[in-house]
Amino acid sequence: DKGNHRHFMAKEIYEQPETISHTLSHYVDMGAEKVAIRETLPFDFADLSRLTMSACGTAYYAGAIAKYWFERFARLPVDIDVASEFRYREPPLEKGGLSLFISQSGETADTLAALRYCAGQGQHVASLVNTLESTIARESGVVFPILCGPEIGVASTKALTAQLTALASLAIAAGRARGVLSAEQEAELVRALTALPSAVSAALGAEAQIIDISKRLSKAKDVLYLGRGAMFPVAMEGALKLKEISYIHAEGYAAGELKHGPIALVDEAMPVIVVAPSDELVDKTLSNMQEVAARGGKIILITDEDGAESVGHGVADIIKIPHVHSFVAPILATIPVQLLAYHTAVFMGTDVDQPRNLAKSVTVE
Ligand code: F6R
Repeated sequence: DKGNHRHFMAKEIYEQPETISHTLSHYVDMGAEKVAIRETLPFDFADLSRLTMSACGTAYYAGAIAKYWFERFARLPVDIDVASEFRYREPPLEKGGLSLFISQSGETADTLAALRYCAGQGQHVASLVNTLESTIARESGVVFPILCGPEIGVASTKALTAQLTALASLAIAAGRARGVLSAEQEAELVRALTALPSAVSAALGAEAQIIDISKRLSKAKDVLYLGRGAMFPVAMEGALKLKEISYIHAEGYAAGELKHGPIALVDEAMPVIVVAPSDELVDKTLSNMQEVAARGGKIILITDEDGAESVGHGVADIIKIPHVHSFVAPILATIPVQLLAYHTAVFMGTDVDQPRNLAKSVTVE
């Protein structure tokens, strides 16, 4: 049932304030301002020297964002790779290490093969899944549910924000176990998480403006997405989402890589979507953005009030998201990126929920 929405994807985008709240209620004790992991952990975060993550597509980008969190808030080194590469790379792994697999369906063939390789190497195997009665869940030592309800649209939306909410909670748990986060710091991060559902509702309010921008985006042949830090995987996710449902070619790049090649693509016909909410790195990304503007590139900036103020009047299209703690900003920034892809695809007239050549669950490699 699509409710009042034209597509399941739209319904699932709009469900996110509730689905994020639901995921949070599993992982967070809001009253105590603490993360409370209910699953029994067969390992201790304090003893780990490394976390290895593997996944495909959007689930991989969830892990790529979480890498910044585990490294920063738990000082835990993270290796992450797409499962189709990881499984054949057969990387050396220390016995007793932790491997974490992220999969909405729990049936993705490459992710499952990566999991079996890690189990064979004596790793603790954990998975983050939506479908609890799945092969990946069954073969995991510990299963972290993302609890977002069935996702019908082929393009993943609410599963991504649920994965991120759960991963953010795990990063806090790891930070506490490893003695990196004090109780006050944990409370600050938990408050940032609990502020998310209402911030997501507010971010959805930019829809009318996004429809207007999407109309122009639907005329583009190629689109570039730029981000720095945890916004870099958000940029890659934005490009993936646009490609898969609107069939417009798009690439996500680390903002600092622009001048090492992709800037050669920039001309008046090239929309460049810059994902840059205010944080300690925003000025660097905004200066990369100015380099694009100087070459006539059409900029669409996703930022908050402070970010918008620091660019002044130079940028025609600024999609504003509420100011949130920089910890959770990558979760919030996925919202306008989803809406842009969705509305561009609607203008293109593609089959949004069932894009050509794609399956919801990729059970063959
Ligand atoms: C993109 C998308 C895919 C999946 C990928 C992994 O919108 O939905 O890239 O994220 O196929 O699927 P799961 O999470 O089921 O392993």
